[in-house]
Amino acid sequence: MGGAAVLAGLGAWLPPDVVTNADLAAVLDTDDEWIRTRTGIRQRHIVAPGAATSDLAVQAGVRALKSAGQEHVDAVIVATSTPDRPCPATAPEVASRLGLRGVAAFDVGAVCTGFVYGLATAAGLLAADVAGSVLVIGADTFSTILDPRDRTTRAVFGDGAGAVLLKSGAFGEAGALRGLTLGSDGSRGELIEIPGGGSRQRSTGRPVTDEDLYFTMQGRAVFSEAVRRMAASVRESAERIGWRLADIDRFVPHQANARITAALAERLDVPVDTFASNIDRVGNTVAASIPLALADDAASGRLRAGDRVLLTGFGGGLTWGSVALTWPELTVA
Ligand code: UT7
Repeated sequence: MGGAAVLAGLGAWLPPDVVTNADLAAVLDTDDEWIRTRTGIRQRHIVAPGAATSDLAVQAGVRALKSAGQEHVDAVIVATSTPDRPCPATAPEVASRLGLRGVAAFDVGAVCTGFVYGLATAAGLLAADVAGSVLVIGADTFSTILDPRDRTTRAVFGDGAGAVLLKSGAFGEAGALRGLTLGSDGSRGELIEIPGGGSRQRSTGRPVTDEDLYFTMQGRAVFSEAVRRMAASVRESAERIGWRLADIDRFVPHQANARITAALAERLDVPVDTFASNIDRVGNTVAASIPLALADDAASGRLRAGDRVLLTGFGGGLTWGSVALTWPELTVA
């Protein structure tokens, strides 16, 4: 067939263990008030010892398939920066555990923009007729790569997974992805990174230490880039399909920080209450962030069939991207 990528299923999964701000304050030099006022976060979910990203991805994938009323897809894309192992990709294992042995399966790495990059990749597979339906899963377990002594990153990040099923269809129908825009600036890669453990370090022969493998972020610089890049990306997507910002019912931004969302709304000159926000309950869940926020909004009725929706993400790389759709009839699983 080949055509538009149409949203046909949505599922989400959070690991049951919750870490509150008070729990963090008991082990680190931080407090509930700092975390709430600087980030908007009250709690985050984290995986139990021994659990991995694929475990969350499978749970979200099962739910997206159920939501779409489908047992089969032709391809599985896992957007993640915390794969179960550096090699091979996590997606083949996830596909296999979903009973989808034999299908195309690969990972996409664009950190917090991973889900939007995954959607764009799936749209390409559908347009080129490589697949008739694709499962796109955003899943991350950042709790496993944070420096236990780093009060900033531990306050911000949480674990989770969200998934959508995309089917080949027509651009005019509800759920069709439109106005996809992607971007990157690799000259600022050091703002969000795991410095070691890759070929750059390994080729030196220097042994890898714990410190090399911890996630690091230069928060202030990332904050201003996030607002600037997401604002430009939102405008570009909307313009491409002839939507005025004032006509958009719901913006679903990457949940990086409630203050980033507020600054984005201000820069775009749209009311902040048109922006989805679940960061208070889940923190920044990286590639899972946008589908988790979508699932939350859809389940609570804040997203209704016919709504004009615009998703936008920003993350390490640096990377950014946005996509628009008219919300379809959908039951979240
Ligand atoms: O998801 C992908 C993209 N990621 C983002 O978009 C994240 C963007 N950045 C941010 O959200 C914010 O920069 C953070 C939440 C990470 C940090 O907030 P900030 O307001 O930019 O704080 P800061 O890093 O400038 O630090 C301000 C102060 C520092 O103390 P001094 O040097 O002023 O004495 C920090 O040491 O706050 C201190 N601080 C904390 N205090 C209590 C940092 N973390 C904490 C903490 N508890 N957890």
